[in-house]
Amino acid sequence: MGAPYRIAWLPGDGIGREVMEAARIVLDAVQLNAEYVDGDIGWEFWCREGDAFPQRTIDLLRTCDASMFGAITSKPVKAAEAELDAQFRGKGLVYRSPIVRMRQLFDLYICLRPCKAYPGNPLNFKEGIDLVVFRENTEDLYSGVEFHPVPQELRSVLAGISKPFAPFQHLAADEYAVSCKINTKKGSERIVRAAFEFARKNNRRKVTIVHKANVVRATDGLFLEEAKRVAKEYPAIAMDDANIDAICMWLLKNPFNYDVLVAPNLYGDIISDLCAQMVGGLGFGCSGNIGTNLAVFEPTHGSAPKYAGQYKVNPIATILAAKMMLEWLGETQKATALEQATAEVIREGKARTYDMGGNAKTLDVAQAVRSKL
Ligand SMILES: NC(=O)c1ccc[n+]([C@@H]2O[C@H](COP(=O)([O-])OP(=O)(O)OC[C@H]3O[C@@H](n4cnc5c(N)ncnc54)[C@H](O)[C@@H]3O)[C@@H](O)[C@H]2O)c1
Repeated sequence: MGAPYRIAWLPGDGIGREVMEAARIVLDAVQLNAEYVDGDIGWEFWCREGDAFPQRTIDLLRTCDASMFGAITSKPVKAAEAELDAQFRGKGLVYRSPIVRMRQLFDLYICLRPCKAYPGNPLNFKEGIDLVVFRENTEDLYSGVEFHPVPQELRSVLAGISKPFAPFQHLAADEYAVSCKINTKKGSERIVRAAFEFARKNNRRKVTIVHKANVVRATDGLFLEEAKRVAKEYPAIAMDDANIDAICMWLLKNPFNYDVLVAPNLYGDIISDLCAQMVGGLGFGCSGNIGTNLAVFEPTHGSAPKYAGQYKVNPIATILAAKMMLEWLGETQKATALEQATAEVIREGKARTYDMGGNAKTLDVAQAVRSKL
């Protein structure tokens, strides 16, 4: 046996801890040769140390092959300030989402969200759905370049160079806000390429580019142009494109017309939740944040404070995130075994959490999967 994988284990807050316990049961059952190293992340560390994603956790991630992440709590600015330990209050500390920071710090530019309707899941919108969403993960409206109140310098520049800015230029600085949508050629090119490469390796028939280039001409225009250029390199894979609003309708109307979808950050966020809901909702939505040297796998749900401590929520999203991690590590047989065991438990319908209409506990589902392995 070679050296064990080093996996950063970041349970976070609330139900994040419970679903990660479930994931560990199945990872142990597939006998992944791994060293799991616990890392601090989440609300507790914001309150106690003024940082929800402490430097020691960033350092830990730098030494790891991959990471599993549960969920974290975040709160609006004023609530976040109020819960800070007294020594940090009034120091200008600003809460920033650890997962967004992680994506940017480690350049985890791919957000991969497979959405498969496992047969027999009572929550399936339709049987047979098998969509894969590639969401750009580091730029677009999530670049973090935002202003409120809007500084005078920015207002002067925009008033000088942009006609459509005219209706806004006389507003008081705190009467409006500006969030910059920044899309680069490099960022657009590499996410589209990742989607086509995935399609090629997995015998997928089509890649759909999602945008709003008819209205958001500069940024989405650039994204679409790059996407079309990359698509030419993959003549064996069909390509089409659709506006974000239209595709939300079409996906519901006929999900079988789609296969792999690729989108800038915000539209990708929207369609991946839409697609996840078609295959069971929050208890099934899993995702990989993937870069060149590191990948972080997580369920897409949050910390669900109202259920924290009850071991009641569905761990399948996190178990499927663990399966994605196994795939990314190249442990294909273990990944397939874990997916088959999970599919079997879903099909059998004996261990179902409340969202699936059952009364099994979080760890009962994990044990049921383990028993199939
Ligand atoms: N990636 C993340 O860590 C992440 C994502 C979303 C929200 N959040 C944070 O989580 C906190 C709670 O947010 P929220 O209540 O809007 O969203 P949430 O995803 O935590 O929960 C919303 C509701 O969805 C259901 N749900 C969630 N996960 C489930 C599961 N595994 N099985 C069954 N049902 C499930 C529950 O009814 C829950 O009350 C907030 O602080 C929010 O900022 C974190």
